[in-house]
Amino acid sequence: MLLTEIDHVAIAVKDLEAAIEYYAKAFGATVDHREVVESDGVEEALLKVAESYVQLLTPTREDSPVAKAIEKRGEGLHHIGYRVDDCQVALDSMLAAGATAIDKAPRPGSRGTTVAFIHPKGSFGTLIELVQENPGADH
Ligand code: CO
Repeated sequence: MLLTEIDHVAIAVKDLEAAIEYYAKAFGATVDHREVVESDGVEEALLKVAESYVQLLTPTREDSPVAKAIEKRGEGLHHIGYRVDDCQVALDSMLAAGATAIDKAPRPGSRGTTVAFIHPKGSFGTLIELVQENPGADH
């Protein structure tokens, strides 16, 4: 089994502050990590839940894929991040199983991780992110 944990459930929102406040009020959740990922055109707030995260995700520019997703489908579930020991091994395994890669090779993600995205087409309608944590990284 290549998956070691649900790394995060990503929720696309228009107003990051409002979403953080809502999760704080509703659950007493606090922001564990916050980061702008300029290459992806997103800002994220990670709320820790046991060993996993809820990732609140908002676009930082109009041509961001997350902006397009919100435009198309509205706010809500955007992707699921599966934690793996080795992103390349998991990516190769998914491709061998017939998955369609968005990222042809693992690349840097937020909080010092290594990630690869898999297209929902061919993965039963779910945008999948493979997340490898790197020891010694920031978080
Ligand atoms: Co993610």
